Amino acid sequence: MKKIVITGASSGIGMQLAKAYLVAGWQVIACGRDAKKLSLALGENTKNLQFCCFDLSNREEVIASTDQLNEIDLAILNAGTCEYIDEPKAFDSKLFERVIHTNVIGTGYCLEAVLPNIKPGGQLAIVSSSVTLLPLTRAEAYGASKAALDYLTRSLAIDLAPKDIDVSLIRPGFVDTALTQKNNFEMPSIITAEKAAQIIMQGITKRKQEINFPRGFFYTLKCLSLLPNALWRRIGINMIKPLK
Ligand SMILES: NC(=O)c1ccc[n+]([C@@H]2O[C@H](COP(=O)([O-])OP(=O)(O)OC[C@H]3O[C@@H](n4cnc5c(N)ncnc54)[C@H](OP(=O)(O)O)[C@@H]3O)[C@@H](O)[C@H]2O)c1
Repeated sequence: MKKIVITGASSGIGMQLAKAYLVAGWQVIACGRDAKKLSLALGENTKNLQFCCFDLSNREEVIASTDQLNEIDLAILNAGTCEYIDEPKAFDSKLFERVIHTNVIGTGYCLEAVLPNIKPGGQLAIVSSSVTLLPLTRAEAYGASKAALDYLTRSLAIDLAPKDIDVSLIRPGFVDTALTQKNNFEMPSIITAEKAAQIIMQGITKRKQEINFPRGFFYTLKCLSLLPNALWRRIGINMIKPLK
């Protein structure tokens, strides 16, 4: 039986991934902060489904709660948070720190915990975002955190290749989850978390280095990212909405 570790498995994309890998007959180590929330999302702890609870912004908690992990075939580092910078002149550095700490530093803690335990021939996947293709209004913290994950993942893909570990960078567009249900703006090409999990699983099975979706949305952003910076800046300014 193959073994997968998924962070952020209590909700949204991570929860759907955990369900899909359970159905496919994998042993799933589902990570989240709260065992009750995990069991409400996925069912009771069983031989095939084990919970691993930690706050990923706390290194000691991450390391202590993952010390039993071994012989991992696949680790998907998916947990993350999103907060927006609403007032750029009164820059909220605490918000900035929270987002960077959870999304970037927390991913580093998880890497410290899981990487020594991924088998040769195994895989690592990190969930970034399509936000990294272009600078967007209010995304100073979230976008910077995901841009850091892009670089981290692509760099790891080089250094882990000689260790026989394949690395996938996952960049979703809008997915309907608790994270986006807070958004008060239009989200083009939004898809369900079930669909997102299906696309991610297929990409990982094919050992794709990059899993970008939905395809049309990704290629639109990719084309826009080729515009001269000054032109994109003007488009970006037009996207600013006055706060209600
Ligand atoms: N939804 C989208 O449109 C979208 C687009 C691009 C990228 N993404 C990325 O996809 C990933 C999953 O997001 P989602 O949309 O599925 O959001 P979600 O439904 O809000 O799920 C987030 C998951 O991350 C976990 N998490 C958050 N902070 C944590 C912490 N400090 N310690 C441990 N676990 C923590 C949550 O666990 P708790 O239950 O403990 O809170 C939850 O399981 C994120 O990295 C997000 O940035 C999402």
